[in-house]
Amino acid sequence: MTQIAEAEPVQFKGSGNRLDFGLPSDLGGKDLGVFLPMANGGWILSTNAPLLDGSYEYNHKVAILAEEIGLDFIMSMAKWRGYGGVTQQWHSALDSQILMAALAAVTKRVKVLTTVHTLLQNPAVTAKMIATLDQISNGRAGLNIVTGAYKGEFEQMHAWRDTVGHDERYDLAEEWITIIKRLWTEESVTFNGKYFQMDDCQSAPKPRRQPFLVCAGTSERGIRFTAETADAMFAGGKDDHELAHISNSVKAMARGAGRSIKTYTMMNLVIGDTDAAAEAEADHFRAGFDFEACKGMMRAYGLLDAEIGKENSFVQNARSSFMSARIIGSAETVATRLIEMIEYCDLDGVMLIFPDYLKSMPVFAREIMPRIRARFPEKAELTYAV
Ligand SMILES: Cc1cc2nc3c(=O)[nH]c(=O)nc-3n(C[C@H](O)[C@H](O)[C@H](O)COP(=O)(O)O)c2cc1C
Repeated sequence: MTQIAEAEPVQFKGSGNRLDFGLPSDLGGKDLGVFLPMANGGWILSTNAPLLDGSYEYNHKVAILAEEIGLDFIMSMAKWRGYGGVTQQWHSALDSQILMAALAAVTKRVKVLTTVHTLLQNPAVTAKMIATLDQISNGRAGLNIVTGAYKGEFEQMHAWRDTVGHDERYDLAEEWITIIKRLWTEESVTFNGKYFQMDDCQSAPKPRRQPFLVCAGTSERGIRFTAETADAMFAGGKDDHELAHISNSVKAMARGAGRSIKTYTMMNLVIGDTDAAAEAEADHFRAGFDFEACKGMMRAYGLLDAEIGKENSFVQNARSSFMSARIIGSAETVATRLIEMIEYCDLDGVMLIFPDYLKSMPVFAREIMPRIRARFPEKAELTYAV
């Protein structure tokens, strides 16, 4: 039975599921951020991709540039094992919390979102880490909750629980985040759950506001967890139609639970001087496709060895060398396409990926971002009920 501590809860600025996080989307604008290339190879599985080494030095430059050009957030993933192949894709990956703490200290404005695996990190440890990040960043901390999609990462450290299936990992995550939210607001937490137990557990300092919670569950269970828990969801889809459906569904689901949620998508932008130049660059990536790393990725996802090597939809998509959705074209084409997608899918923002961040971010800032900001201006009042 769950026992509730009697201490008075700390009142966060705003109330309940407030979405006044200081982001453009609070006021009807769009939130633009970058997915930091903190693992080598970025999001292109190719020997022809620009050399992203995943180093702190590179990510530091990207974060400073993100702040300078007026992006709204920076986010890093949590990654524990690479995919092999010629590229040794993601073999080297920085720790997400240490990285974001360092970047919080050298930025002033961008939100800093770090990723934590619910299977790996005790909720009391996470509560304190994020409260610390909240202080370092002066209230800009965010937490991406992941339940573990890549089995191979966890098996190597005996942290994969075969008895806890896919959907149940979200049940576990529910207990996990419930404890964290209580530790952020209550003096003492006693919790007797199926997966976690806390006895008079104490955590201070408290964050000055509830950190921004994001999640990227794509399964039915994952989407429900996200709608009921997160302030923002990373949605994906094979086309605008599917993305719009997911974005609308999760917003409706959140409303049904008496709350609001923002929806973002993640997009790799290949920007060339002309459409043809951008397509040629993407073709060059395709020509260097690292099939061995792709197989490693499939294994990590828990696909059966019998399926690996077959020309299924996973491989067909991966053959493009891109590990995510992408827009390929001139700055004009990319801007038009982004605006069209944001509008049609009713998205609140986009998390950007670039083949070469330091080369393309200035182009994005100069030729694409002003069009997005102009098309979706911020209004004077909060657009979300809080
Ligand atoms: C933008 C984005 C970021 C993600 N970051 C991570 C991550 O850092 N670590 C991880 O293991 N999974 C990550 N994932 C995977 C998701 O957390 C999730 O497990 C996956 O989308 C499958 O959804 P499901 O868990 O509902 O099946 C990410 C997914 C997206 C779209």
